[in-house]
Amino acid sequence: MRAVVVTDFDTEPRLVELPVPDPGPDEVLVRLAAAGVNPFDWKVVEGAMRGSVEHAFPLVLGSDGAGTVERVGEGADFAPGERVFGQFMDVQQGRGSYAEFAVAKAAKLARMPAGLSFGTAAALPTAGAAAHDFVEGTGIGPGCTLLVNGASGGVGQAAVQFAAAQGVRVIGTTDPATADYLRELGAAETVDFTQGPVAEQVRSAHPDGIDAIVDLISGRGEIEPIAALLKPNGVIVSSNGAVDDEVLATRGLRGANLYADARPATLKSLADAVELGQLRMRIDFEVPLEDAAEALARLMAGKSRGKTVLLIE
Ligand SMILES: NC(=O)c1ccc[n+]([C@@H]2O[C@H](COP(=O)([O-])OP(=O)(O)OC[C@H]3O[C@@H](n4cnc5c(N)ncnc54)[C@H](OP(=O)(O)O)[C@@H]3O)[C@@H](O)[C@H]2O)c1
Repeated sequence: MRAVVVTDFDTEPRLVELPVPDPGPDEVLVRLAAAGVNPFDWKVVEGAMRGSVEHAFPLVLGSDGAGTVERVGEGADFAPGERVFGQFMDVQQGRGSYAEFAVAKAAKLARMPAGLSFGTAAALPTAGAAAHDFVEGTGIGPGCTLLVNGASGGVGQAAVQFAAAQGVRVIGTTDPATADYLRELGAAETVDFTQGPVAEQVRSAHPDGIDAIVDLISGRGEIEPIAALLKPNGVIVSSNGAVDDEVLATRGLRGANLYADARPATLKSLADAVELGQLRMRIDFEVPLEDAAEALARLMAGKSRGKTVLLIE
């Protein structure tokens, strides 16, 4: 089978031939039709998990994917021919979704509703689950004001929709070209991050502060000016491990570093939301598997206005 691999940390992705893997107990072999691309796919190559977990090389890149069940390991509650989507990354086994076939744990997959395309299903797991979990993680409700920092990207666009659907007033950061689209998705206000510091712009529009923040941009040591926008007892969640909850607590604020959990129930609710027209996943770059390196480079260069998907023949 064709697969996109790296042979070590910090090496370039390459398209190679590999044997089709076998599913073990509670695992499923899927013939993939599409793979979703996420920033974390590249962060793994840069060593995001180096030292905390063994990596097997050659390492097939990618987490998210959608396709048709080919074979089922003992105990896995799926059948050949079923259309499924979910997460495939297992760096210890060298497994990922940028391939014609991939093995996933059955507990990381869900069945696709009939109306869902493979491309959209592949775009959903990580970004959709992150947006879902991060908005829920703030615990806010109707009437509250939420800043989504990074609203123009894959996670951010979904977060805007989840929060707006709950009656939350959403401020979304964006480049000018994506501002109208974010308003269509439910953002009440947009802030142009290319026109100066986001914190200053939000502060001048909301001098009394805001209730909550989903921060998808700030790294460690960078989150302070954004967190300072919060009202007393306000809450900030970070996708990038940037929050120090003890420091926040000394200032009467709350915060957490959150990690998306794309469990089957969440995958199902994401797919249902797409089918019902409650969640739009904009795919802004779609290329064949062999162009995976280009797709990753484009994403990491900061050209994401939605999701990137690899189509697999
Ligand atoms: N913890 C978890 O479980 C988890 C799960 C999913 C994602 N994440 C992380 O969350 C982050 C966002 O993921 P994603 O998939 O949404 O990435 P993405 O699709 O690349 O979106 C990021 C968006 O932020 C914009 N942006 C860049 N610089 C900005 C700035 N200074 N201020 C405001 N916006 C800015 C980007 O615009 P440009 O393209 O113009 O740069 C892009 O539209 C990534 O770091 C990812 O690794 C974590």
